[in-house]
Amino acid sequence: MLHQISEYFKQKHGEIDAVIFAPGRANIIGEHTDYNDGFVLPFPINLGLWFVAQKNQVQHLKIEAFNIQETIDYPLKTDQNIKSSWFVYFYQVLQRIQLPTSFGATIVFGGNLPIGAGVSSSSAITCGFIALLNRLYELQLASERMLEIAVLSERGGGVQGGIMDQFTIFYGLKNKAIFLHCGDKTYEYIDINLGGLKFYLIHTNIKHELALSDYNNRRADCELALNHLQSHGIEITSLSHLSINQLSWIQEILPQALYEKTSYVIEENQRAVEATKALKSGDFNHLGRLLYQSHKGLSEKYQVSCPQLDWLVNMANQNDFFLGARMMGGGFGGCTINLVKGLMTDTMSEDIKQKYFEQFNIKPEIYLIESSDGLLESEKKIHL
Ligand code: GLA
Repeated sequence: MLHQISEYFKQKHGEIDAVIFAPGRANIIGEHTDYNDGFVLPFPINLGLWFVAQKNQVQHLKIEAFNIQETIDYPLKTDQNIKSSWFVYFYQVLQRIQLPTSFGATIVFGGNLPIGAGVSSSSAITCGFIALLNRLYELQLASERMLEIAVLSERGGGVQGGIMDQFTIFYGLKNKAIFLHCGDKTYEYIDINLGGLKFYLIHTNIKHELALSDYNNRRADCELALNHLQSHGIEITSLSHLSINQLSWIQEILPQALYEKTSYVIEENQRAVEATKALKSGDFNHLGRLLYQSHKGLSEKYQVSCPQLDWLVNMANQNDFFLGARMMGGGFGGCTINLVKGLMTDTMSEDIKQKYFEQFNIKPEIYLIESSDGLLESEKKIHL
């Protein structure tokens, strides 16, 4: 894919001054825990976006979305937002980085990362663009600062997300998952040694628009629950400070709907810890069970699933080839992540697609995913 984009760039614009790869991310477990300062276990995937660029002398950013052949011309001296589904993330970044106006840049970005599938395409855009500007304009931004700008830019786009996606995209390493404590940003790389097992994503092809969905409402519910507990004199600053054995008295304090969300967060944190141990020790049956439990919590307690995701997880649960499955990312559509016993045969994947189509009249997509290096590590390895 990089080859395709860089050849296209060279033919159209000539020399290349910088290349950045921003991968998408998968998350094994720990969903909707990041903005509650909890645990997550994500890894960067081998699907992503490439940014290829050249400095220009016209003091404009000319940005082309390769996959849809759409170009936006942004004069550096204006502050004009341009209505576009993808430029919004570029614009949000430009609101936070003061660029010298001495020269502009011609940029082509594109790749094989599905959009709206819960694999962080929006974060790949923000992180990739920040790193590209850092490189082209020699801004000397530390990685912590780039992470911070990426998180804020994405929130500026409307979704009040956590830090999991951007952290994974910047700091990921091939063959490692990141066991990240989102509260204090401490983390440990965990080897992904699956033996012959594989991770697959199955995309419902229900495109989720996180900003328009209930994502922000869930976050607000968590804050409400926290305020409620604090007003009862409980000295915590996030729901992740609570433990499983406090559940019964929390239930007495919180209204039922908030209790459901809170207990989900506490249980999911516990599952992320257990899953990390299972991944380390190679106990994949247990890891698979934890994925199913996570989905049940997300669907029933946290209520961020949808019929198509539930159907795919249920299908997996009835098939011995699957050790575990759950919805992944923000929810309300997007993908399931599946831990399976080996490579799927064509017959098997066609069968899944067919049955799903019969049920929902939509064609799903199935992706075999591998881990990949994150942006910072791959930047060291890209040679122009
Ligand atoms: C989206 C957000 C993340 C995280 C997940 C749910 O991907 O961007 O910060 O909250 O949803 O785990």
